[in-house]
Amino acid sequence: MLKYNILPKPNRYDEAPGSYTVSQGTQVLCAKEFLNAGNYLTAYLKTTPRQGEGAIKIKKTQGMAAESYRLRVSNDGILIEASDPAGAFYGAVTLRTILMQAKKQNGKATVEGLFIADEPQYAYRGVQIDDARHFFGKDVVKRVLDSMAMLKLNTLHWHLSDDQGFRVESKIFPELVSIGAKRKYAGLKGCGMEHRGGEYFHYYTQEEIREVVAYAASLQIEVIPEFDIPGHTTAILAAYPQLSCFGEPVEVTNENGVFDTILCAGNEEVYDFLDKLFGELCALFPGRYFHLGGDEASEGHKVWEKCPKCRALMEENGLKDGKALQGLFMSRANEIVKKYGKTTIAWNDCIGDGFDKSIVCQYWHAHNVSDVRQQSYKREFILSPDAFFYFDVSYANIPLKKAYKFKESKVGFGKPGQRVRGIECTHWSEWIDSEQALQFAMFPRLAALAEAAWTHPELRRWKDFKKRLLWLKTYWRKTGVYYSRLEKRKWNVKRFPIYHLGTDGKEFQISERLRAKEETT
Ligand code: ACM
Ligand code: ZN
Repeated sequence: MLKYNILPKPNRYDEAPGSYTVSQGTQVLCAKEFLNAGNYLTAYLKTTPRQGEGAIKIKKTQGMAAESYRLRVSNDGILIEASDPAGAFYGAVTLRTILMQAKKQNGKATVEGLFIADEPQYAYRGVQIDDARHFFGKDVVKRVLDSMAMLKLNTLHWHLSDDQGFRVESKIFPELVSIGAKRKYAGLKGCGMEHRGGEYFHYYTQEEIREVVAYAASLQIEVIPEFDIPGHTTAILAAYPQLSCFGEPVEVTNENGVFDTILCAGNEEVYDFLDKLFGELCALFPGRYFHLGGDEASEGHKVWEKCPKCRALMEENGLKDGKALQGLFMSRANEIVKKYGKTTIAWNDCIGDGFDKSIVCQYWHAHNVSDVRQQSYKREFILSPDAFFYFDVSYANIPLKKAYKFKESKVGFGKPGQRVRGIECTHWSEWIDSEQALQFAMFPRLAALAEAAWTHPELRRWKDFKKRLLWLKTYWRKTGVYYSRLEKRKWNVKRFPIYHLGTDGKEFQISERLRAKEETT
């Protein structure tokens, strides 16, 4: 039994003799390259990490697995060991969680003796946020990063461009924001939000992007930007209509859905544009990956099939339809991404045999699931099945328990030879238009995702998770993080068919009423 409520659950935990008492002045001795870990602890202890003596030691030990750590508490002090900065950081996260719960007396916290040896199940533990449909801003994103760090999540997938807005300043293509970041109304069509609010004009400056990326790095989180192509590009085409097949003017949309606005695959100017833009963007994001989207382009394929330039390219390459042409288009875009030193990620919609094996596939939903599964023997996969990890979907459809009980085998993965790098939850923001609505969708399900990502399946227990979660909920209440109380109730899907969230989404309103009731009872 875990004496302390640690989420995600450590993979090995033993009680040990003795205890150690930590006060606010307790020094933290930290290997130089483990400064992120040291800072994370001293931010809590209100000291500064040192080289020299300290009762809490964060020490480099050779030969440990990536991201793993050992934590020992005894009468002699507290020792964290790791081989890499990520492992040291997660040791610090666990210790900080324990310190928060340790018995306090006269400003001192006594931690009971223990030994933890821990490492993640998956190397990739991701969270996606969609800043294109609704914009959150750097402070909200930083608070998301704080919550992620506490749960040992290590990747922020940042969706920054879609039909409803392009959200990053470009110095080479200034109209991407002066036109592409602006739409007529804040509210998008659906959930009673249509035509609400006035003009909506939001984007991140390059300085803000750098600030968020650096903040993430200090929490051992890698940022992966997504610039969705060739579909979901209405905002880009509003700024640069000459990049579409027929060059007709379009506006940044206030609607939702799948559109036929698409970058022309047969126009060299498009590849030139992508080359310059990706060059500029890759310099802002020092991480290893660049997400090209590639999803939901089927309506655009019909435009390609009518476009003389696209048709000529199809004939030249013996391609039978728009879907096949997307393979060629994505391959060229991937060459650009590679040129800038990054690895491409793309949604499963567009992945095929002809694709470079270095391209990582993100699985969300497939009409032909067996074809997609076949691909997982050939390339790395990230699993974001919409039935488990689309957290913008209602709690009626994805209750906490369902997210927690995820197993690869439930979506046809987990066989020997399949290459699953990790899992990720999404928060598409068509109807998530505030930090509170985002938190409602995210919490407490983020804790379930985190445990599914970190803790080995045979060690996971639903009831035990729920018990540990009580502590986290108390913490969230104290720190003003809003979370859904809905999972307490049995939801009748017929009575609550609404599966979108937002300050105007009904499910959110229901939860508000429930919350008011819960807080007065
Ligand atoms: C997606 O949900 N269109 C990836
Ligand atoms: Zn075309």
